[in-house]
Amino acid sequence: MYKILKAGKLAGNIYEMIVEAPRVAKRCLPGQFVIVKADEKGERIPLTICDYDREAGTITIVFQPVGASTEKFSRLQAGDSFRDFVGPLGRPSELCTDDLEEVRKKKILFVAGGVGTAPVYPQVKWLHEHGIAADVIVGAKTKDLVILEKELSEVAGNLYVTTDDGSYGRSGMVTKVIEDLHNEGKTYDLCVSIGPMIMMKFCCLTTKKYNLKTIVSMNPIMVDGTGMCGACRIVVGDEVKFACVDGPEFDGHLIDFDAAMKRQTLYKTEEGRALLKLQEGDTHHGGCGNCGGDK
Ligand code: NAD
Ligand code: FES
Repeated sequence: MYKILKAGKLAGNIYEMIVEAPRVAKRCLPGQFVIVKADEKGERIPLTICDYDREAGTITIVFQPVGASTEKFSRLQAGDSFRDFVGPLGRPSELCTDDLEEVRKKKILFVAGGVGTAPVYPQVKWLHEHGIAADVIVGAKTKDLVILEKELSEVAGNLYVTTDDGSYGRSGMVTKVIEDLHNEGKTYDLCVSIGPMIMMKFCCLTTKKYNLKTIVSMNPIMVDGTGMCGACRIVVGDEVKFACVDGPEFDGHLIDFDAAMKRQTLYKTEEGRALLKLQEGDTHHGGCGNCGGDK
């Protein structure tokens, strides 16, 4: 059992919890995620790691209830426990594993949208701890939904907050800020965009115009989180990948977001999954690729 030490709302319908999970906290790096189950019969839900404290042995998760399981999570209080808390899963952000001297040479722009601000924070914090100041754009629908502004302001180079309705910070979506910064003469070597799929699609269309390499964090439906079930299958360039083991971060300019969004919708129904199985053939499932035992 994994004890919840702190539970509360960050903003609107966005929840933050600090969970006792020493083995995950010891090994995780920014960019990785956990799969969480509330109880024996609960659904397995992938959640990005927003922060970790290796000494205290804790992980901070941030989530928005979108179905019965996450709604159940939101009702848990400090003192309650999760049944399962599996991780760290996925590959860490390349910024944290690449040669540090090479990373130091780069001017990096993070683009965080809504709840996607949670997985951006640990990356920017990690860079700050290694002497690298990245610029960050945070977008939210409205003032009350801006999260982690104070935390990011302490670790970012420049922080640009924008709201769709103009109620706080700049006005307009994150893509408008990318364009404004470009027009103001700011240049970057790398962009990391994390948020809803539609936001990452339009970020990539914008950064393509400026020839700015863009990494996105894909969060399709996940079931096992170990590369076997095929739920998180995506096509990157002309290669089939599984977000849970090959990602979640990929080169955004190689992703067909429309196809990824269509697959998400199809995967939710039995009929849709049957159609995908037919269309995708042998690559519908993941698996180790050797034994074929999962197929
Ligand atoms: P949201 O709909 O409030 O959007 C956040 C911001 O994204 C907006 O303020 C806007 O600036 C930008 N945006 C949205 N649509 C855009 C468009 N068409 N063009 C340009 N910019 C656009 O976000 P939310 O409600 O907080 O998001 C919830 C979604 O985020 C869920 O679907 C969840 O799965 C996803 N999410 C993704 C990740 C990830 O790792 N990629 C992590 C957490 C949550
Ligand atoms: Fe990725 Fe199952 S969740 S293959």
